[in-house]
Amino acid sequence: MTLIFAHRGSAGTHPENTMEAFLAAEKSGSDGIELDVHLSKDGEIVVIHDETVDRTTNGKGFVNQLLLKEIKELNASYKFKTFQSFIRVPRIPVLKEIFDWMRGNDLLCNIELKNGKIEYPFLEEKVIQLIRDYQYEERIIISSFNHYSLIHCYQLAPEIETAALYSDSLYMPWVYARAIRAKGIHPNIKSASDMIINGAIENGIAIRPYTVNKDNEIERLIRVKCSAIITDYPEKAIKIRRKISKM
Ligand code: G3P
Ligand code: CA
Repeated sequence: MTLIFAHRGSAGTHPENTMEAFLAAEKSGSDGIELDVHLSKDGEIVVIHDETVDRTTNGKGFVNQLLLKEIKELNASYKFKTFQSFIRVPRIPVLKEIFDWMRGNDLLCNIELKNGKIEYPFLEEKVIQLIRDYQYEERIIISSFNHYSLIHCYQLAPEIETAALYSDSLYMPWVYARAIRAKGIHPNIKSASDMIINGAIENGIAIRPYTVNKDNEIERLIRVKCSAIITDYPEKAIKIRRKISKM
């Protein structure tokens, strides 16, 4: 069965990478969530996509130049005008908050290390320590566009699955995945033809394309038995999967 991972939570309908988006993903029946991490100035693992808080909040500045206390004051739904929460203001979570919440469910979690542009000191060590503290080794996939970082993760924790993110087409990506000790590949959807999906699976490499939002693409990947898809619309993807399974 093709697993459904909610990209940055249910980012199509909720402010990305917030608890609200992750709760919506759980409610939709997703099998997993995908999220992005950076380090704050005081070294906390912060769940946010960009290097700065500018695009998604009412604040300004680089995540690694703000203290967690300052980050926590920001409204993480400020730019997501169609979302209204009357209970509380959505905030930028730290990874530990997500892990605490995961104690109450069975969701898988794909942590994307956002260390392509900025090198965060000991990001890999900190993330792995937290995974081990919570004993989530079987529930986590660490991915990154920075494949040196994935090798580093493998050296620190060979028991935790890593997956190589990439955008443009690779020739026999399963060969490359093995070379960097990754058990999975996360290609851009444009680089995920049926041939590549079949090749990866036949070679024992999990394949989870991103960001798969169009109905026809979701349907194609489910029909070809892709390992998983990463989508902003998990609720829609679950419905499509259900429809296909009944045929
Ligand atoms: O992990 C898949 C996808 O999230 C990678 O791209 O920019 O959405 O983090 P981006
Ligand atoms: Ca991501």
